[in-house]
Amino acid sequence: MKVASVVGARPQFIKAAPVSALLRRQHHEVLIHTGQHYDDGMSAAFFRSLRIPDPEYNLGIGSGTHGEQTGQMLVELERVIEAEKPDVVLVYGDTNSTLAGALGAAKLHYPVAHVEAGLRSYNRAMPEELNRIIADHLSTLLFCPTQTAVDQLAAEGIRSGVHLVGDVMYDVALATAQEARQRKTRKRLGLGAKEYLLCTVHRPANTDDPRNLRSIVEALRESGRTVVFPVHPRTKKALEQAGMIDDLPETLVLTEPLDYLDFQALLMDAAKVLTDSGGVQKEAYFFGVPCITLRDETEWMETVEDGWNVLAGAEKADILHAIREFEPRGTKSKSFGDGHAAELIVDILTRGG
Ligand code: UD1
Ligand code: UDP
Repeated sequence: MKVASVVGARPQFIKAAPVSALLRRQHHEVLIHTGQHYDDGMSAAFFRSLRIPDPEYNLGIGSGTHGEQTGQMLVELERVIEAEKPDVVLVYGDTNSTLAGALGAAKLHYPVAHVEAGLRSYNRAMPEELNRIIADHLSTLLFCPTQTAVDQLAAEGIRSGVHLVGDVMYDVALATAQEARQRKTRKRLGLGAKEYLLCTVHRPANTDDPRNLRSIVEALRESGRTVVFPVHPRTKKALEQAGMIDDLPETLVLTEPLDYLDFQALLMDAAKVLTDSGGVQKEAYFFGVPCITLRDETEWMETVEDGWNVLAGAEKADILHAIREFEPRGTKSKSFGDGHAAELIVDILTRGG
């Protein structure tokens, strides 16, 4: 079987890593990198730290408006899919690369398989929500990480080709935890275990609205806590444009985006995590680290319902309150599978659905 896998952004390299490794044992995988993320620290660093093979194609699309980026991806993907004639096109998550992969393949009548299908925030102001809805409705195979995702697809009338497989990010987190610990990342930064917070911000709702960005930074300042803050390129640009880059609190330990293992190492030993990332909310849950989500809603409600994640939004007072007071109160469920999601995905693909 020939599988064309489409990736392009940081979280997709992580999700594709375990699936790609297994696929290549039995099948012919053609890995297509759209080039949506291109800085070494946002792209190649993940191929190195997760030992993902070099992509067969890098379309080099880069940044742009949604229309420019998605449109250029579609043009290039069409060419590659027609040339490779895969049996199935595999897409991951909810980025513009996901949308272009699903739409490009479906229009050419190639079956689409979607990893991390069925997620919903029910907030259509998020570009990811639109990408997910379209990718799910174009897919013939839908690999869901949680029962909630299966139920959400059913509510939209999608029942055929739906498989509950667990979360591939859990596979990766478990498989790499020991290697991550050996990095001693926190010691290199001179930090004691559970003595610092870890923060990531990159959602347009927080970066592109200077009030929200300022309110998050001021909450970090007023907390007085040491906060490791690996800065996403979108956020760096936003901090510069808002004139905030030279007036950041001294308690912030700013870094470039970290590679997967360094980030996991810091996450495991953090006292709490503050984030608007989808993946980081889950990883905090996997490692039993309390998570403060800088959004008003989440696709990962299991983490909130189990008491390990709190939705603080972008209001300074709410964030400060959560930094000071939030303590997990529940036991963790088995919502994200058993760390073998990639095996199930490859088995189902091998069986042809
Ligand atoms: C994208 C995804 C988002 C995902 C995130 C993961 C979409 C619509 N958004 O958001 O769902 O959570 O990736 O990190 O697909 N930039 C660089 N270097 C890079 C990449 C980006 O400098 O290697 C800068 C550019 O200024 C670019 C901006 O970051 O305009 C945003 O990049 P883009 O890929 O459009 O969106 P993300 O915010 O990264
Ligand atoms: N991540 C990383 N280095 C960083 C920040 C995040 O390796 O400096 C990882 C993180 O562990 C998670 C993934 O990137 O696995 C999440 O990606 P991101 O937050 O960019 O996207 P989202 O999950 O919100 O789509």
